[in-house]
Amino acid sequence: MRFSVTTSPIDKPKASLRAVALFHKRKLGIHGEALDQALDGRVAGVIKAGESDGDAGSTLLIPAPAKGAAGIVLVGLGPRKDFSRKSVRKACSALAKLLVERPADTVAIAVDDLLPPDQSIGWLVHTLVSAIGDAGYRFTTYKGKEEVKPVRLKTVILCVTEEQEAEAERACAEAEAILAGAQHTRDLGNAPPNVIYPEALAEDARELARKHKKLKATVLDEKELKKLGAGAILAVGQGSERPPRLIALEYSGAGKDDAPIVLVGKGITFDTGGISLKPGEAMDEMKYDMCGAATVLGVMKAVAELKLPLNVIGVVTSAENMPDGRACRPGDIITTMSGQTVEILNTDAEGRLVLCDALTWVERFKPKAVIDIATLTGACIVALGHQTSAVLGNNEELVDALKTAGIASHDRTWELPLWEEYQEQLKSNFADMANIGGRPAGTITAACFLSRFAEEYPWAHLDIAGVAWKSGKEKGATGRPVPLLMRYLLDQVAR
Ligand code: BES
Ligand code: MN
Ligand code: ZN
Repeated sequence: MRFSVTTSPIDKPKASLRAVALFHKRKLGIHGEALDQALDGRVAGVIKAGESDGDAGSTLLIPAPAKGAAGIVLVGLGPRKDFSRKSVRKACSALAKLLVERPADTVAIAVDDLLPPDQSIGWLVHTLVSAIGDAGYRFTTYKGKEEVKPVRLKTVILCVTEEQEAEAERACAEAEAILAGAQHTRDLGNAPPNVIYPEALAEDARELARKHKKLKATVLDEKELKKLGAGAILAVGQGSERPPRLIALEYSGAGKDDAPIVLVGKGITFDTGGISLKPGEAMDEMKYDMCGAATVLGVMKAVAELKLPLNVIGVVTSAENMPDGRACRPGDIITTMSGQTVEILNTDAEGRLVLCDALTWVERFKPKAVIDIATLTGACIVALGHQTSAVLGNNEELVDALKTAGIASHDRTWELPLWEEYQEQLKSNFADMANIGGRPAGTITAACFLSRFAEEYPWAHLDIAGVAWKSGKEKGATGRPVPLLMRYLLDQVAR
């Protein structure tokens, strides 16, 4: 799908559909009025007939009068007085749904009519592009041709005013790159766990580095991990036939002296729970336990495509958590790269183990900030559901920047406390710490564990267990939190 920006009026571009806003009381926007006049009152006629009330989230398609002419979509926005980001988001998803279901290949959208007072055209373009792009995503690699109904929409033309043009162009380019990054993340997440294993993630990183000059990939195998003393990553991976990997993808878009922002993704390519085996129900969804890693790779792709003037390093810490004769056991004590020892009381708390060595390893980059991204705890879903990720960290400015970026991108994150007192739950009788903190506050004690390995730099942790994929009929990766992290990085550029 291609998106482009134009200042020509809505009735001009060659298109199979034209979309205009419709408010309550059957009121068209400025561009809708102009289009209606160009069509000798055809639109107003349909509205007068009472076919649509213009409720927010409703759509009405007026079919093309003849072959080669354009159909018209009336996008409901509700009452003018409630014209806000909320009603526009609703309208954008309804429009997106209609567009990808129609046999139309080109649509022109009267964007200016969809812009609420006091909102930037950049925000609106981001919202439209991501709604339409997300709705048009399909994962069909393993489906027979007969069953797949392809999305016909190829070209989306955004009609804006001359004053809006420059900002709209910039936002459109950003939004397309973010979309491509998020789709990469979704593809990796949806791919089956017999195809995605640690070395496959390494290969994906190398592939990205081959495509983009400013990216450099480094892959550490189990021998190198042993040399580094990465006892925690190795312990998680030792039950699998497919050995663990620690992967770095370095993007240099700023000077050598500019400290990098480091992103660390949990890449458990399948989480059986290990010897502390998970129950069987929906265990297939534990293929998504690498969505943190997939997010990092998707973000790096978008960063490279946008050539951001920043230094960003994407790190993926990857293993497969399997039960086996060689697997680690509850009771095992391991020594992490940091030198701290951990008593593994539950082999299903493996995410924090692969992450802790990665957090130590990234000290070598002297980072300005480190953000880890992980499907870390089921407790996060209990606490926050599927609407928001959790953020915790040791640096208020960094946590606040992530919260702000989450609101701006509507890929929201909500802070949980990381108070000292919770650390006590990690006490072990035999090692420096245990890898679990008991039932209460599971998301917080997981972050407490990580915090002990992240003392050398400003750090934040995103628990994405509730947002990285959907279950049930719509099962599939969401691409979150690529939009949130890209907003954060773009905000850093603007600073
Ligand atoms: N990958 C899981 C967390 C998870 C579970 C995410 C379900 C999304 C849906 C993680 O490795 C895990 O198993 N965590 C345990 C930790 C517990 C043993 C302390 C959990 O949440 O039950
Ligand atoms: Mn687990
Ligand atoms: Zn896991």
